[in-house]
Amino acid sequence: MAPITHLECTKCGARIGAGEPATVCPKDGGVLVVRYDLAELKRTFAAASLFGRTPTMWRYAEVMPEAEPVSLGEGFTPMLPSREHPNVYIKEEGLNPTGSFKARGMSAAVTMAKSYGLKKLAAPSAGNAGSALAAYAAAAGIQAHIFMPKDVPLANRVECESYGAKVTLVDGLISDCARMVAERKEAEGWFDVSTLKEPFRVEGKKTMGYEVAEQLGWRMPQGIVYPTGGGVGLIGMWKAFEEMQELGWIGSERPQMVAVQSSGCAPISKAWDEGKPTTEFWANAETIAAGLRVPKPHGDYLILDILRKSGGVALAVTDDEIMDALRHWARVEGIFAAPEGAATLAGYRKLRASGFFSPDDTVVLFNTGSGLKYLDVIEAAKSGVRLRLTSRHIAGIIGPY
Ligand SMILES: Cc1ncc(COP(=O)(O)O)c(C=O)c1O
Ligand SMILES: [Zn+2]
Repeated sequence: MAPITHLECTKCGARIGAGEPATVCPKDGGVLVVRYDLAELKRTFAAASLFGRTPTMWRYAEVMPEAEPVSLGEGFTPMLPSREHPNVYIKEEGLNPTGSFKARGMSAAVTMAKSYGLKKLAAPSAGNAGSALAAYAAAAGIQAHIFMPKDVPLANRVECESYGAKVTLVDGLISDCARMVAERKEAEGWFDVSTLKEPFRVEGKKTMGYEVAEQLGWRMPQGIVYPTGGGVGLIGMWKAFEEMQELGWIGSERPQMVAVQSSGCAPISKAWDEGKPTTEFWANAETIAAGLRVPKPHGDYLILDILRKSGGVALAVTDDEIMDALRHWARVEGIFAAPEGAATLAGYRKLRASGFFSPDDTVVLFNTGSGLKYLDVIEAAKSGVRLRLTSRHIAGIIGPY
């Protein structure tokens, strides 16, 4: 594994040592990213050295922080060729521990928390991040304090409690949960592992970028379609591509990065349409895709910059389009997706219809989680009613689907 040279602020470029647990840039609150000596690594770390390594995200050990991994077997998920669309691949993240890609980020964050000797972690979560934190904290023997909207999918709450986490259900959105963690963390002695407010969740999520490249034989796809809430995966994959170029594994080519959101909470898509560099808070966020219910992503400036640099796009799809895509994937591909993952198929359909992607383009759609974590939401939709996740209600049945 690689010694970290420093942490770097994505706003002002300030360099901070990694010897102590860090949160955000002390000067401007910017997101901190982890830097290694890639020029040095390039001399010894070749793509060929991956051959025969463990099929987890820790196979990329040289570009992961130097610590004993807290691992439950996360990562190196299948890249399934679509049966319906030639040249489309579905990256099946639902097979991760705790049933979602959040396992990657939390494996890395908890690994570092353990190596720093932290004893109490806290996080606001739309659902799956909480489940993942609870599992990895249990594996590491660390306390987890999780704040989730009270209408979170049932599985998330049951999982967190089963893993022994302390769960607080909040009458509000993830933004309200984040505020509560921020208000209480000092007095309680919690270390906050909120999205993009500690540097290592990105390190876990970036492994999706390494895997896309490795599983496609070190060729970049034309596009990557990613269901975007906080945007950690987009930011992480982009970092992976930059690192791989510095390692000499790929050239300057990049996929067009596509952020799909739900029309019930689409701050990135709105900012993109308006040509703005940051988002405005999305009022009354409401969607069946719980992980996309992030009214103001902390890393909005990074996400929008990546979309622009990559020649990508942001777009929103409706909950009805998401549910249609979810059922379709299950029947046609044999993949039971999370609503967030199904949103990528809904987005891809639109981008094919508009000509943004052609049938010849190799495109990777990220199914970020398993539908098994949303049985309550999906069942309600199936029986002709829609279980909606709103900011004001406990999940309730509100009208015909
Ligand atoms: C299944 C699923 N997909 C996508 C997302 C959004 O992820 P990100 O914060 O990386 O944008 C989440 C976040 O909770 C999620 O649980
Ligand atoms: Zn800064």
